[in-house]
Amino acid sequence: MMAVNCTLQILLLLLFILLSPVAITAGATDTFGKGQNVTDGETLVSAGGTFTLGFFSPGASAKRYLGIWFSVSSDAVCWVANRDHPLKDTSGVLLVASDTGDLLLLDGSGEVAWSSNSPNTSSVEAQLLESGNLVVHDQRSKTILWQSFDHPSNTLLPGMKMGKNLWTGDEWYLTSWRSPDDPSPGSYRRVLEYATRLPEVVLWQQDAKAYRTGPWNGRWFNGVPEASTYAHDFPLDVTASKSEITYGYTARPGAPLTRVVVTDAGVVRRLVWDASSLAWKTFFQGPRDVCDAYGKCGAFGLCDASAASSAFCGCLQGFNPASPPAWYMRETSGGCRRNVPLNCGGNETATDGFVLVRGVKLPDTQNVSVDMSISTEECRDRCFANCSCLAYASAEIREGGGGSGCIIWTGDLVDLRYVDRGQDLYLRLAGPEIAVPKGSKFAIATVLAPVASAVAIILVLLFVICWRRKHRISRKRLNDGIPQSSAMTVPSVDLHTLKEATLNFSESHVIGQGGFGIVYKGQLPDGRTIAVKRLRQCALTRKGKCDFAREVEVMARLRHGNLIRLLAYCDEGEERILVYVYMPNKSLDLYIFGEPSLRATLSWRQRLDIINGIAQGVAYMHEGSGESVVHRDLKLQNVLLDDNWRAKVADFGTAKLFVAERVDSSLTIVNSPGYASPESLRAEMTLKCDVYSFGVVLLEILSGQRNGETQRLLLHAWGLWEQDRKMALLDPTVNLPPLSRPDSDVGSELERCIQIGLLCIQESPDDRPAMSDVVAVLTTKTSQIARPNRPGIYNQRTRFVTGQADLTRTTTIDLE
Ligand SMILES: *[C@@H]1O[C@H](CO)[C@@H](O)[C@H](O)[C@H]1NC(C)=O
Ligand SMILES: *[C@@H]1O[C@H](CO)[C@@H](O)[C@H](O)[C@H]1NC(C)=O
Ligand SMILES: *[C@@H]1O[C@H](CO)[C@@H](O)[C@H](O)[C@H]1NC(C)=O
Ligand SMILES: *[C@@H]1O[C@H](CO)[C@@H](O)[C@H](O)[C@H]1NC(C)=O
Ligand SMILES: *[C@@H]1O[C@H](CO)[C@@H](O)[C@H](O)[C@H]1NC(C)=O
Repeated sequence: MMAVNCTLQILLLLLFILLSPVAITAGATDTFGKGQNVTDGETLVSAGGTFTLGFFSPGASAKRYLGIWFSVSSDAVCWVANRDHPLKDTSGVLLVASDTGDLLLLDGSGEVAWSSNSPNTSSVEAQLLESGNLVVHDQRSKTILWQSFDHPSNTLLPGMKMGKNLWTGDEWYLTSWRSPDDPSPGSYRRVLEYATRLPEVVLWQQDAKAYRTGPWNGRWFNGVPEASTYAHDFPLDVTASKSEITYGYTARPGAPLTRVVVTDAGVVRRLVWDASSLAWKTFFQGPRDVCDAYGKCGAFGLCDASAASSAFCGCLQGFNPASPPAWYMRETSGGCRRNVPLNCGGNETATDGFVLVRGVKLPDTQNVSVDMSISTEECRDRCFANCSCLAYASAEIREGGGGSGCIIWTGDLVDLRYVDRGQDLYLRLAGPEIAVPKGSKFAIATVLAPVASAVAIILVLLFVICWRRKHRISRKRLNDGIPQSSAMTVPSVDLHTLKEATLNFSESHVIGQGGFGIVYKGQLPDGRTIAVKRLRQCALTRKGKCDFAREVEVMARLRHGNLIRLLAYCDEGEERILVYVYMPNKSLDLYIFGEPSLRATLSWRQRLDIINGIAQGVAYMHEGSGESVVHRDLKLQNVLLDDNWRAKVADFGTAKLFVAERVDSSLTIVNSPGYASPESLRAEMTLKCDVYSFGVVLLEILSGQRNGETQRLLLHAWGLWEQDRKMALLDPTVNLPPLSRPDSDVGSELERCIQIGLLCIQESPDDRPAMSDVVAVLTTKTSQIARPNRPGIYNQRTRFVTGQADLTRTTTIDLE
C-alpha cells in the first residue's frame, strides 16, 4: 500500500517535472548561485521533490508571483516572495546579486520587485530545502544568511515557528491572503501571544481578536483538543525560555504532508495530504462553531455550542445578563453582571468561596498572572488571599487528570466556552451564591421565566417517573437471582472427574492457595475451564466438614451475576472440593495495585461498573437471597473479573460463611488487615462489617492505593475530602472519558463515590448505610447522600498479632 502510494507520488512528480516548461538542468536543481538565475517558466525543486519554487498566477489573477508550493498540489502555495509587488508579465527573474549576495527578484525592466536584504557576503548560494525552506547561505561555511521560514506568509510548515526570538527581537506570525486571487496581506493575522509566558495563539482581524486557541496546557492549546489526535504524527512544540517564546510543530518521518493555513476568510486549518485520494483533508479548523467567535457571550458569559435551545450563551453561576433585553435580542456580547458583590476580607460571617466550572476553554489570558512553580492548591490559597483575584486554574494538565501551576484572573473573564477535554476553572463567588447554584444557568430561561418554570415542572415530573421506573428495574434486577424454589441444589461431582480435570491435582495446575485450601485450574471433558478448590486435610475437622456442607447449601441459593458461581462440589471420603467457574481475568487487586499499564486497563467507566457490581453482589448476599449472608472477607483479592471485566465476589471460604440468624460464637475471627471494621476485631459480626470492608475496597479502586493495617488510605481520603481536593484521590493512570460526552461528569461521580466510601467506613455500624442503600445511591445519580463524619480510623497493627492474621488468612486466588 505504502509502496504503491510512493510510486504514485513519484510518477506524479515526474509528470509534473516533465510538464513544467523547463526544469533547471542537470544535478543541483535545488540550488543556484551567482551568475545563475531562475526565470519565469523555470523551477527549483527540493532534493526529495516535495517542494517547488517558481512563478505562478493565483486563482483568476494574471499577475505573476514568485512562490513555493507543494509539488503534488501546485495550488497549495505556502510562501510568496513579492506579495505586495506582483509582476505584470512573465519577464521576472530571480537571481543572486553579484555585489551584495542578496536574493533579488527583478521585473522585465530590471527594477527590484523584491529582495531578501541578506547580509553582504561575497560567495553565496540559494537553495530550496526539502522542508520547503528557501535559504541563502555562505557557500563555504554553509551559514544561513537568510531563510524564507523567517518570513512566513499564510502557512506554517513543519519546522517553522511562530512567536518571538527574545534576543534578536525577530517576530514570526502568519498573515492571510487578501483573497484567493491576491496573496497580498489580508485582514487576518495569526499570532502567538506570550505576554504571560503562557502562550496562546490568537487570530486577529485587524485590531480585534477573532479567535483564540486557549492557552498552552503543556500538551495542547486548551481549546484545540483535536491536537491530541494528530500530535503523534505532528508533535507540537512550545518553547518559553529566556531566548524565545515560540510555537511550532514537526512531522515524524513517514508522516503525511501537512500544513497549517490561515485562509483569506479568517479560518485556520490544519490540512493533511491524503495520497490515496490526492486531496487535502482537514484535521482541525478554527473557529469551529459559534462559541469560538471571540467574546461571543461577553464578560462572565459561558458559551455552550450544544445549547441551541438557549441561543448558546449563558452566564456563569452567580451572574445574570447585564442587559436582559439585549440578551433577548441575542445581543450577548454585553456579558453578565455579578448578583452579589464579593465579600473579600471585610466580613467574617459571609466569606467568599469558589465554584468549579468544568471542562472549559479558559478565558482570555491577556491580563492574567501565571506562576508555574506552585501547585493548584497553593494557587487556590493565593487567589483566596488576594481580593482582586476573581478566578484561578491550573496552568498545566497532566496525563490522566490533575494539574499544576497557577493562572490567576483579576479582570473580566472573557471568551469562556465549554470544550471537549477542557480544563477546570475555579470561580470566586460571594458565600451566599455558592450554596445555591442557580437552576437556570442559561439566562434566556430567566427572560422566559414563566415558560421555564412550566418546563421545570414537567421535567421534575418526568424525572420522578423515570426514577421510579429505574428504581423498580433495579429492584427487579436484584431479585433476578433469587432461586424460584429453595430446593435448588448444587450437583455433586465424582473425584475421578476432578482428578482428570486437574491432572491428578498437579502442581502445575495450582493457581492459588491459602490457609484452608489449594485452588487448581482444570478442564472438563466438555471443554469448560473450571477453578477447583480442594480443602486441606488439616482443615477437615468435624466443624470444618460442617462448614463445608453449609457453604454448599448457602451457595446453592446464592445465584447472582456479581457473585462467583459454584458449579459443583465433591465430598468423597475425606475429600472436600468446590468447583467454580474459572475467571480468566483473575482478581481485581492485580489491576488496581499493578504496574501502570495494568492499572490503565481499567478505565474510569469500568472502575465504576466494578464498584457497582461489587455493591450489587454484596447487597444481594445481605438481603436478596432470602437469608442474610455475611461475606466477612471482602477485599480486592476476593473480587474476580470475568472476560467482560464484570466483578464477581468470590471466596465464600468455609470459615467465613455466616448466617446472621445462627449466631456462632465459636466462629474464627476472620480479618484481612486494612479491611476489617472496628467491631469485627471485637468478634461482633453484623452485615455492617461487610459495608465497612466495601468502603475500603471502593476507596482502593478509586485511588489505586492499598489501605493496609495502618489505615493510610482512609486517613488520606478523609484529609482530601476535608480540604475539598477530591479529584486528587483518583489514580492518575485511570483513563477518563472525554469531557464533552454527556456521561462524562467524572468530578461529580468521583465525589459521590468518595462520599459513599466515607459513609461506609464510619466508626459506628449504625452510621453506615445498608448495602441496598449503597446500590441505590450508586445507580441514581441525583439521590441525596448524607455528609460523612470523620470515619472510624484506627491503627489495626496494634490489634493484630501477625500470626493470628496469618492463621485466619483464607484462600485467595492471587495468581502469579
Ligand atoms: C539568466 O541566465 C541566463 C543564462 O543562464 C542569461 O542568459 C540571462 O542573461 C540571465 N538573466 C539575467 C537577468 O541575469
Ligand atoms: C559588499 O562587500 C564588498 C566587499 O566585501 C564591497 O566591495 C561592497 O561595496 C559591499 N556592498 C555593499 C552594498 O555594501
Ligand atoms: C456581613 O455580611 C452579612 C451577609 O452579607 C450581612 O448580613 C452582615 O450585616 C454583614 N456584617 C457586617 C459587619 O458588615
Ligand atoms: C486587559 O487589560 C487591558 C487594559 O486594562 C484592557 O484594555 C483589556 O480589555 C484587558 N483584557 C481582557 C481580556 O480583559
Ligand atoms: C493581588 O493580585 C494582583 C494581580 O496579580 C497584584 O498586582 C497584587 O499585588 C496582589 N495583591 C496582594 C496583596 O498580593
